[in-house]
Amino acid sequence: MVTAIAFDPHARTPLHRQLYDAIRGAIVAGRLRPGARMPSTRYLSEQLDLARNTVLNVFEQLLAEGYLVARPGSATFVADELPDRALRAARRVQGHDIKAPHPPSATETGVGLSRRGRELADGPIWARVPPRVPGAEVAFRPGLPALDAFPFERWGRLLARRWNRSGADLYDHGDPRGYGPLREALAEYLAAARGVRCDVGQILITTGTQQAIGLAAAVLLDPGAAAWVEDPGYPFARAALTAAGAALVPVPVDDEGIDVAEGIRRRRDARLAVVTPAHQFPLGHAMSPRRRDALLAWARDAGAWLVEDDYDSEFRYVGRPLAALQGEDPERVVYCGTFSKVLTPALRLGYVVVPRRVVGAFLAAKVGADLRTPPLEQAVLADFIAGGHFARHVRRMRVLYARRQDALLAAAGRFAPSLTLRPRPAGMQLIGWLPEGMDDRAAADRVTRAGLQAFPLSGLRLEPSRAGGLILGYAPVPAERMADCVRRLHAAVVSGE
Ligand SMILES: Cc1ncc(COP(=O)(O)O)c(C=O)c1O
Repeated sequence: MVTAIAFDPHARTPLHRQLYDAIRGAIVAGRLRPGARMPSTRYLSEQLDLARNTVLNVFEQLLAEGYLVARPGSATFVADELPDRALRAARRVQGHDIKAPHPPSATETGVGLSRRGRELADGPIWARVPPRVPGAEVAFRPGLPALDAFPFERWGRLLARRWNRSGADLYDHGDPRGYGPLREALAEYLAAARGVRCDVGQILITTGTQQAIGLAAAVLLDPGAAAWVEDPGYPFARAALTAAGAALVPVPVDDEGIDVAEGIRRRRDARLAVVTPAHQFPLGHAMSPRRRDALLAWARDAGAWLVEDDYDSEFRYVGRPLAALQGEDPERVVYCGTFSKVLTPALRLGYVVVPRRVVGAFLAAKVGADLRTPPLEQAVLADFIAGGHFARHVRRMRVLYARRQDALLAAAGRFAPSLTLRPRPAGMQLIGWLPEGMDDRAAADRVTRAGLQAFPLSGLRLEPSRAGGLILGYAPVPAERMADCVRRLHAAVVSGE
């Protein structure tokens, strides 16, 4: 991995310093592990096209500082015990959980990153939140479904059957568009449940919405092109756009959804907008019909694309599900759906319905990204749908989540105004609004220290706001655990007042 360092010969930083920073940065961030054997200086100088003496000097320096150790036989290794300075830096990078792996910030990785790489590394704070430690409390992690109600046995049986009996069919390269029967099942489901207008040829299976948005950005945006994003909004959609070099244009949302007039005022010429019309993430409003019309009218007028992130529309508890925007203009809207909410995010399975005229480009981008989505789970999922288990699971979860939302509201009712929640007719999370002026990041830190998880609303904003809140995912919290979790949550919130 050391040989993958990209040097910038035009940078003001001299080459030996770039090499030093890169190796030290990799050691501090844990990408070069304690005890790892370093390549020889001769090998490195050849691979990196640097003078041998430059590499030797850098090794000398790192040896002198204690990051590297020389062992008999002249090989060099990463030190088992890092110097104090490095450990302090590592703690800083890893935040409050030293055990959790954590991406280094741009400052820590030092030289070698592109501008886009630096923007990504310093990007959304969610990407910098350590993953949940296995076994830790799941309350109130947003985006997590009720894994306590996941049909593990049924899934396991279907998986074992496919694993044992599929023969060569599922073990070869497979179709880059995705597993045929799954795409056919989706075409039927989307037409019936979401009013999506497409044929099966327009459906590609992706590794989640994340990849779908990434593909859209890759094929529809030139580097530097403007893209509207909802503010507050989904940070990982922003990350996918940033990775494609887009210029993000934050557009405020209100209780009718994205403020189209404001978007036009800021960047009428944007090439694309990513929106969550059925259920705005994270505030939870449905886009009003007049906003939908205004958005479509702008997109047609500007020749822009709309990317519809329909991430949890299955969970609407009151009234009829709202039809997808895609059905209103299938040649302009790229529709993204996911199994992360309805089943589990661990599957990494989603789909994108692509306007007919750009199917070929999306497919090429998909192949360029990862050749294809692993077929085995796709086949199991197709079996799960065909057997009627999917529809049953969605129905059960709809009832369960409505009950869990009620339990959350009942438990939180007595804590207003230090924690104020409003019922919502859909979804898997609510905002716990904090008293005006309370720093929601500090509150979220206190909640984390209390052993719960709640992410700060400000982490999803590009522009500051005085209205702070915590995003509370209630789907994974059993109703009987809710009162206790809410009590601990509230105690942590007010402990900072
Ligand atoms: C707004 C939004 N979009 C999409 C997703 C799902 O993304 P993926 O399919 O990549 O897991 C989530 C899940 O957390 C989400 O909150």
